[in-house]
Amino acid sequence: MARFGRFDDAAREYVISRPDTPLPWINYLGCEDYFGIISNTAGGYSFYRDARLRRLTRYRYNNAPLDMGGRYLYLRDGSSGELWSPSWQPVRAELEDYRCRHGLGYTAIGGRRAGIDAETLYFVPLGETLEIWRTRLTNQRTESADLSLFSAIEFCLWDAWDDATNFQRNYSTGEVEVVDGVIYHKTEYRERRNHFAYFACSAELAGFDTQRDVFLGPYRGWEHPIAVETGHSSDSIAHGWAPCGSHHVELSLQPGETRDVVILLGYAENPTDAKFDPPGSQTIDKRLVLPVIDRYRRTDAVDAAFQRLRDHWDELLETLQVSTPSEHVDRMVNTWNAYQCMVTFNLSRSASSFESGIGRGMGFRDSNQDLLGFVHMAPERARERILDIAATQLPGGGAYHQYQPLTKAGNDSIGAGFHDDPLWLILAVAAYVKETGDGAVLDEPVPYDNDPGSQSPLYDHLQRSLSYTQERLGPHGLPLIGRADWNDCLNLNCFSDTPGESFQTTENRRGGVAESVFIAGLFALAAAELAMLAERHGRCDDAVGYRRAQATMDAAVRSGGWDGAWFRRAYDYFGNPVGSSENEEGQIFIEPQGMCILAGIGLDDGKAEAALASVASRLATPHGIVLHQPAYTRYHVELGEISTYPPGYKENAGVFCHTNPWIVIAETLAGNGDRALDYYLRINPSAREPISDLHRCEPYVYSQVIAGRDAPTHGEAKNSWLTGTAAWNLVAVTGWILGIRPDHDGLRIDPCLPADWDGFTVVRRFRGARYHITVTKSPGTQGRVSRLVVDGRQIDGNLVPAAPAGATVTVEAAIRAAG
Ligand code: BGC
Ligand code: NOJ
Repeated sequence: MARFGRFDDAAREYVISRPDTPLPWINYLGCEDYFGIISNTAGGYSFYRDARLRRLTRYRYNNAPLDMGGRYLYLRDGSSGELWSPSWQPVRAELEDYRCRHGLGYTAIGGRRAGIDAETLYFVPLGETLEIWRTRLTNQRTESADLSLFSAIEFCLWDAWDDATNFQRNYSTGEVEVVDGVIYHKTEYRERRNHFAYFACSAELAGFDTQRDVFLGPYRGWEHPIAVETGHSSDSIAHGWAPCGSHHVELSLQPGETRDVVILLGYAENPTDAKFDPPGSQTIDKRLVLPVIDRYRRTDAVDAAFQRLRDHWDELLETLQVSTPSEHVDRMVNTWNAYQCMVTFNLSRSASSFESGIGRGMGFRDSNQDLLGFVHMAPERARERILDIAATQLPGGGAYHQYQPLTKAGNDSIGAGFHDDPLWLILAVAAYVKETGDGAVLDEPVPYDNDPGSQSPLYDHLQRSLSYTQERLGPHGLPLIGRADWNDCLNLNCFSDTPGESFQTTENRRGGVAESVFIAGLFALAAAELAMLAERHGRCDDAVGYRRAQATMDAAVRSGGWDGAWFRRAYDYFGNPVGSSENEEGQIFIEPQGMCILAGIGLDDGKAEAALASVASRLATPHGIVLHQPAYTRYHVELGEISTYPPGYKENAGVFCHTNPWIVIAETLAGNGDRALDYYLRINPSAREPISDLHRCEPYVYSQVIAGRDAPTHGEAKNSWLTGTAAWNLVAVTGWILGIRPDHDGLRIDPCLPADWDGFTVVRRFRGARYHITVTKSPGTQGRVSRLVVDGRQIDGNLVPAAPAGATVTVEAAIRAAG
């Protein structure tokens, strides 16, 4: 058992105390247009809006050593010639007092060597397209110190994919300008780009470099640049090859003296007709950018911008703050889970330590689910997101699997025809309307496939989402699965036998009858949500129809989808069951147990209880609930990618964390508060912190997967940060265990707590009013809310009516033992 740091809850930071974490433990900089990932040793890269098309700096994924490329600094001691990096990498010379504080939108990394302490704060100011590195150097020696500080980044030639593959061109295109100590990276600015990057420093420079191989020296790596070793920059100007940026600052520090140096890395655009100064030249017009650079070179501007950033996050997180008997619940809900939800909102699945920034745009299904986790913090942005997503929907109700953040256009380069996709839009819109009360969004005109002139009300999009499923039913009355459903790897129509072929894009075989019980559950849930929206939208006839559709699907699941002790997963191309006791491998899957019970199926006839008991006995492990059992031990051509993974990994019986909160919610629906919290804590990152050496990923955010019991590395997490796990866990714990749930007419207070809790308190902002909620319960019992007092007045039921904006509401709820 080992930890590599600790939570500082008051500061909302995770403090890492040794640099050699099992994997780079990263954080995100930026929350608007300019972003970066940054590891605990300053590795990572930056980009403007799109991690593939507008990448500012280079990073080398899957490198040895890990995590190469970053926002590097070097210190050189003039008297001894000794050199080190205050963030450990890339030099990796030993540091005293190494520390990294990952906070909300910022990271500070520092360390001491030979009596020189250096700590750098990295962040992106709100409203700007630049990042700041503020380095504070302190001489703790008894004599003065002559130091050289070198900065180093490597520029990416914008399109990260091209940059990593097209060397016959790229070795000849790189261009920079250096004026008044500011390094401008302007590759392709001469032609169709009107953007450039800049790298500036607050201190006067002793020199600079912009050609990587001059700065490093031939056949040298980032751990030992010749410029740093000799203490001399060459003032190199890159022509082609690999443009980099390095400032050289000489500092003489008296004993005890502290000095701040500010470094800026930014992105700037000029109007297309005002790119050059003087016009007709090839020199960047700097009139727009220089005032920005000058402003942030000043430490008072830097400090003020940092304070604004902190206030911004405090304000966002104030939407929901809880105090419960579990520190893991409090820490995740109050800070880290909410923060992770905002990161998934911003970046979908594009850029992390595992997502290379060149593969995937915004997922249709992913973004709709991410919204469930941030809608309460950023309702206006949720509205905009819903309209963007809906505008990519196809006229037939289907969806592109993803869309591009820069253009917002749908894109099927990673496949299409996932039949679950459109239904998630209904869940997202329902969550938004419940949170905000903004039913008018349903009237908002939205095009199909971004086609101008095809506008129709959002409500119409939702109707088409539902009918898309209804028009595609199989022999059991269950939805046809298409390419796959939530489980991208359950490819029942692919029959791929060609090495390397993508399961996401390969031509599907036609004529089969593969059906998904998971989509059936999702459909029933979405139909119920749409019925409620329709009623409130004055479409009562529609609502009746949706309820009927829900009931029909419910019945189809209970007949064709029930296996005897759990819900089946699917039927394959030939009509054989998947996820059934009839199968040899893959007898039971988690997804339909979660989604069908979320839709209320089986709660009244014992099926839900039975299914949950099967989950407990067959799928639950100490490290979370695995996707299915038994794992597939060989390739099944009729099942697709799921069986390509070795047993226990990813979709082949890994703990796919996204699905666990569905079971948590299902347990609360069935009234099992103990089991709900127990499952929740098994994958809660903070609760897993003591086993960081096994878990290996960051202990402050969820990972997509934890290796399942069939894997040799059971308990090891992968794919941290960008996962639907974040949104669903926040929903599960706050909305269902704590039971504080927005509903159309108010805030529902419906906790389902473990027996040993005696209650909790919550402060929740809801439609502009502030609710102070106290829930009490005698320990040793379970049960539901039996008494609800709102502003001193007892009311029936468990719904607190929505108060006017600006109001403060006091809510007291008491839970009495059932029966
Ligand atoms: C992964 C899935 C992922 C899909 C997206 C697959 O290889 O296993 O988790 O959703 O790729 O392209
Ligand atoms: C990750 C994808 O982003 C998500 O959409 C999918 O549901 C899961 N993998 C499961 O395959």
